[in-house]
Amino acid sequence: MTSTKNKITKLRKNILKYEYFYHTLNQSIISDAEYDYLLNQLYNLELKNKKLITSDSPTQKVGSGLLKNFKKIKHFFPMLSLENTFDINGYLNFEKRIKKSISINELISFCCELKLDGIAISIIYEEGVFVRAATRGDGFQGENITANARMIESIPLQLKGIDIPKRLEVRGEVFMLKSNFIKLNEKYKNNKQKYFSNPRNAAAGSLRHIDPKITAERKLIFSCYGCYFFTETNEELNTHYKRLMKCVSWGLPVKKEIIICSSYVEVKEFYKKFEKKRNFLDFDIDGIVIKVNSIELQKKLGCNTKSPRWAIAFKFFSSEKITLLNDVKFQVGRTGVITPVAYFNPVYISGVMIRKASLHNKYEIERLNLHVNDSVIICRSGDVIPKLLSVVKNIRCKNAKKITFPEFCPVCNTKLLENTDEKLIRCHSGLTCDAQKKKALYHFFSKKSLYVKGLGPKIINELIKKRFVKNPIDFFYLKDLDFIKLKNVGKKKSLKIINSIIQCKKTTLKCFIYALGIPGVGEIVSQKISNYFLKLDKLMNADVLELNSIDGIGKVIANNIFNYFYTVSNRKMINELITKAGIYWDDQELQKSNIKKTLFLNKKIVLTGVFNSFSRTKLKRILINLGANVLHNISQKTDILIYGKNFGSKFFRAKNLKIRIMNEEELKHLIQIK
Ligand code: IVH
Repeated sequence: MTSTKNKITKLRKNILKYEYFYHTLNQSIISDAEYDYLLNQLYNLELKNKKLITSDSPTQKVGSGLLKNFKKIKHFFPMLSLENTFDINGYLNFEKRIKKSISINELISFCCELKLDGIAISIIYEEGVFVRAATRGDGFQGENITANARMIESIPLQLKGIDIPKRLEVRGEVFMLKSNFIKLNEKYKNNKQKYFSNPRNAAAGSLRHIDPKITAERKLIFSCYGCYFFTETNEELNTHYKRLMKCVSWGLPVKKEIIICSSYVEVKEFYKKFEKKRNFLDFDIDGIVIKVNSIELQKKLGCNTKSPRWAIAFKFFSSEKITLLNDVKFQVGRTGVITPVAYFNPVYISGVMIRKASLHNKYEIERLNLHVNDSVIICRSGDVIPKLLSVVKNIRCKNAKKITFPEFCPVCNTKLLENTDEKLIRCHSGLTCDAQKKKALYHFFSKKSLYVKGLGPKIINELIKKRFVKNPIDFFYLKDLDFIKLKNVGKKKSLKIINSIIQCKKTTLKCFIYALGIPGVGEIVSQKISNYFLKLDKLMNADVLELNSIDGIGKVIANNIFNYFYTVSNRKMINELITKAGIYWDDQELQKSNIKKTLFLNKKIVLTGVFNSFSRTKLKRILINLGANVLHNISQKTDILIYGKNFGSKFFRAKNLKIRIMNEEELKHLIQIK
């Protein structure tokens, strides 16, 4: 219990700190997604430990601190926040809860709108005249920003049209266009203090500026998303949508991207549409808002302390985040390539906490002109791989330290050499460099190489540390007693590994080539060269020209293969592996099977349709193993089209081009799969 209590206290303290920075100082020191993540953690912990909930917990209140310079205004009714979800299930639960709470099973009409990423404000009109404006503040009282709001062009000072209520409150978002934000920062590029990190902060700073003239200069925009009457209007304005349209008729700005829908499919479509479009809009949106359209139903559903039960925000994952670069470390890979890796303050992107990103090579560091302590922009490339996109310009601090690529290997201290063709810098110590040794030995005995079951990186590292092994040959002389001396390895496991080492000696030429770990020689290239040479000694004596003549083997890989076999220590190791350790494979077998394989060897093959006996991936793999190149599109260069059920237009294109067409049965016959 004490540890839960401590966790809760720590979370509350951090959240309150972030809220103070955000609401009072207009500074986002963490991202919205991280903030939501922490608040969710706190919410879940409190849910499980209800006794620990206190009234001052951030989960129990709406907004946060008020700025000291502005006078306070009490809201006529609380300015609440919205419940958030990041996935459609969250929305479906919201819908289910509504139906349960009002016990109806029929379709409910919802209004979907954009969730503008700005500052919430409330404006009061009396007899159609603008009288006051306030920020949300803590939800109960906000700052009186009447003078500043008057300066915003899109806020009418006098409403037009008919049926104007005696008193009207409109609530909406004040934001800055992205294009204006860029222009503003351009102006302050030499003044770090005035530099804003995003349009939202720029809008907040401009709206709450002590000088309303500055607010006017900053060209803020207002958009209304809700209105409340304190007196009856003539018309029956019984839906949220009708009310918004009424606001439009009074001259109030309302974003036109609104749909009325009643199925989650339409909600999802609206979400997907704007998730794609958001980067092309000139204003920031961070999701969509879905609201029950009927005002009567809204009233029935009511609110909880933080948010209304009739609305939910379906938020987008943020795709880019700004954070602080802490360090760049230089990793030594299996083949000696030195890869710089950036370590930064953790950021939460697309549902994942990210701490590091590869910087690929020396040129990437130079392109970024990277310094430790720089503010950097991180994204997930293809929404998956962490990437350091750029450095936030013009806000480099004094203690920033320029990053330079090392001249010597950070592990074995050997002078590093650059291969300009590959744009890579390598340590050429091979198995004498500890970092390479660990990775190369693990690779040698991994699944696609000479597979030894149970020989993971931990055991290999220990074997190296205890000086039991320094190269692949040593493994074939290990005894079960050696393994027992390792941590967490008992008799049973040692015997299992020893047995597997004996079995791994029978292999194939392809697996042996792959196991050597020659730079650029992966599974496919190993298969290609084993199909081509059939015998290891032919491969070992091939020159660069011959290697380069094999389809799919370029100049760089041909050179790597040649250099590998030209190196005396490598030839010696291979010789020992075969003659002393006893590794072998069946050359005859390879030749026999190669007769049927020649049909596909180096052929350009395209697939279309669905296959009965294999998945696409499996069929692709079989064909690659037979030496084929499997391509996506039909062209004049295609050799064979293999088609399954429900084939597509590729079939007709191949026919027109008179390309050889093969069905699944014919293929199975040729590769002898029953
Ligand atoms: S409705 C009762 N509609 O999102 C809540 N809010 O966390 C009424 N926001 O404070 C809010 N676009 O500042 C609503 N179309 C929209 C919105 C929107 C942006 C903001 C608003 C609110 C926050 C909720």
